[in-house]
Amino acid sequence: MVKIVNNFKRTIDAPEEGIKTRAEKISIPTFFQKRLGNVLISEKCLKLRVKEMAKEISRGKKEIYLISILKGSAVFLADLIRDMDCDVEVDFLGASSYIGEKSSGKIKIGFAPFDAKGKNIILLEDIVDTGNTLSFLKSHLLKKEKAKSVKICVLLDKPARREKNIEIDFVGFRVPDRFTVGYGLDYKQRCRNLPFVATLKKY
Ligand code: IMP
Ligand code: MG
Repeated sequence: MVKIVNNFKRTIDAPEEGIKTRAEKISIPTFFQKRLGNVLISEKCLKLRVKEMAKEISRGKKEIYLISILKGSAVFLADLIRDMDCDVEVDFLGASSYIGEKSSGKIKIGFAPFDAKGKNIILLEDIVDTGNTLSFLKSHLLKKEKAKSVKICVLLDKPARREKNIEIDFVGFRVPDRFTVGYGLDYKQRCRNLPFVATLKKY
């Protein structure tokens, strides 16, 4: 259902069963060993792909205005902007729809201290799942905040449970229908500090 426009030359599918063959090379901190399932995307792979995305997004641009959706996209943002070769302006928007592993379906905007009127925005999100959050935020920014344009950039795309037909302009990796944590993505506010993306076993 998801329509990806203006995306990269390649779309990287994270392996359903994780990167088993190379798993022994990734040391999972002892604290997380019982809690995590498979490593889906290694730290090295994230680094390379995020660098590639930064170049693609900033190519030919003099300036970029990013709105990073808190808190999940903070780690992604920090790496992404350091590889952009243009002027970058950043704002943050606090939105939430999740309670534990379930999407509540209701999106709440909290923190949003900016004026988006007339701006060309790139909305940055950690993951698109049902599409409800991004669809709501895009239409809010265009209709209520009177933004000129809104593009969407996500690190992860989980297409299996899509409910909203939404255009995603930039996608890092496509992931299977599993709850994923790490590199900013959380389970009950934890695991954001993992340098890789993994599936969750239990917590
Ligand atoms: P959507 O509205 O269903 O697309 O959900 C988007 C939001 O749900 C994201 O910003 C995440 O915060 C959260 N989310 C969805 N799937 C996952 C996941 O696998 N791990 C962590 N958070 C997730
Ligand atoms: Mg989020």
